[in-house]
Amino acid sequence: MNRENSDMLWERAKRVMPGGVNSPVRAYAAVGENPVFIKRAKGQYVYDEDGNRYTDYIGSWGPMILGHNDPRIVSAVKRQSELGMSYGACTKAEVLLAELICSLVPCVEMIRMVNSGTEAVMSAVRAARGFTGKSKVIKFEGCYHGHADMMLVRAGSGTMTTGSPDSLGVPEGCVKDTLSAVYNDIDSVKRLFERNRNEIACVIAEPVAANMGVVTPEKGFLRDLRKICNENNALLIFDEVITGFRLGTEGASGYFDVRPDLVTYGKIIGGGMPVGAYGGRKGIMSVVSPLGGVYQAGTLSGNPVAMEAGLAQLKALCENPQIYENINSLGEYMREGLRTIIEKHNLPYSVNGIGSLSTLFFSDKKIRDYGSAKSSDRETFGRFFRFMLKRGNFLPPSQFEAIFISAAHTKADIDRTLNDADDFFTAEKN
Ligand SMILES: Cc1ncc(COP(=O)(O)O)c(C=O)c1O
Repeated sequence: MNRENSDMLWERAKRVMPGGVNSPVRAYAAVGENPVFIKRAKGQYVYDEDGNRYTDYIGSWGPMILGHNDPRIVSAVKRQSELGMSYGACTKAEVLLAELICSLVPCVEMIRMVNSGTEAVMSAVRAARGFTGKSKVIKFEGCYHGHADMMLVRAGSGTMTTGSPDSLGVPEGCVKDTLSAVYNDIDSVKRLFERNRNEIACVIAEPVAANMGVVTPEKGFLRDLRKICNENNALLIFDEVITGFRLGTEGASGYFDVRPDLVTYGKIIGGGMPVGAYGGRKGIMSVVSPLGGVYQAGTLSGNPVAMEAGLAQLKALCENPQIYENINSLGEYMREGLRTIIEKHNLPYSVNGIGSLSTLFFSDKKIRDYGSAKSSDRETFGRFFRFMLKRGNFLPPSQFEAIFISAAHTKADIDRTLNDADDFFTAEKN
């Protein structure tokens, strides 16, 4: 596979951007490969600067649930951009999107649009602190909630593979109120509440962790979090930047039937445009300015192009609930296929996932938290990634990310990918 143009761009990129990228995972540092530069995309495929086609299992890290360039989103974006890119003023589209999300998700009565998942989390935690009058926040090791200072404590995703789980440049004062618990271990949460009585403002969790690879919540874990927050007058925040509108139109809170106090969104609700949002009960959201004293603002918040793109995507999902059945069963089909291959080659690896999110872990441990996820053999993952890329599979370039399936993928795409995976493990033996 010729990737001459990508390689040339990579040399130029490294001269003018830190590490050649605008987000670390794109540098492919964890897989020992030069990154692929994408020129265009359509449906389930991305095409690079050299004209190679890849089946895309990243989907822009989640937003492209309908596949790339869905005509409904493209025409919404075209229509709005001809009317204006941004006004910094109220628009109908932001009302429609807010109404739609509030009507779909029972725990969201009011919502505020922002520009990224990072901003959504940062603002939701500020609202939780403002509402409760308390400072401390419990998060889980390996859960990534964006790069706000206070959240860069044992965060997953890119921070796991760059080997800097705690970032430089984050003063200790910024993280002194961030407490880390162990995912799927409710006793670790209980201990933190006991040691910090009446000081915990909120617990924030990815209801399905997808930034240490996919780690699903064990039975009762989310419900127990709800209970412990109630008992301690702390708010429960679900970070649904990945799971929101991916597991269904009610997101993970609907899927698991556990209602958080606040929810954060991003990705899917922008249809591929930069977006984020946080919402929850009216009583809590009323602390946000100008209604209340928690300040939060944004020049491009509720940007009309992003709102129209998000509206088009959410409407398409609501009008075709079959999409969820399809992508979830394709996800299951892929997981089953991978398990069969692992068994056939007598390997100790495991496959985690739920719905359209999956991870193949190169580890002999059951992956249920950050500690077990870190036991994965990243060297073998790197070889797997490089082999699969050469065969035209655009997989996440890190062991600690999710494979995303979209409505554009077909069983034939998954079969081809499974065949390639089978070939990889055969080649490894020889
Ligand atoms: C669960 C979760 N929260 C927050 C974020 C941060 O979102 P953004 O990258 O839009 O700032 C991410 C990003 O992947 C995420 O997966």
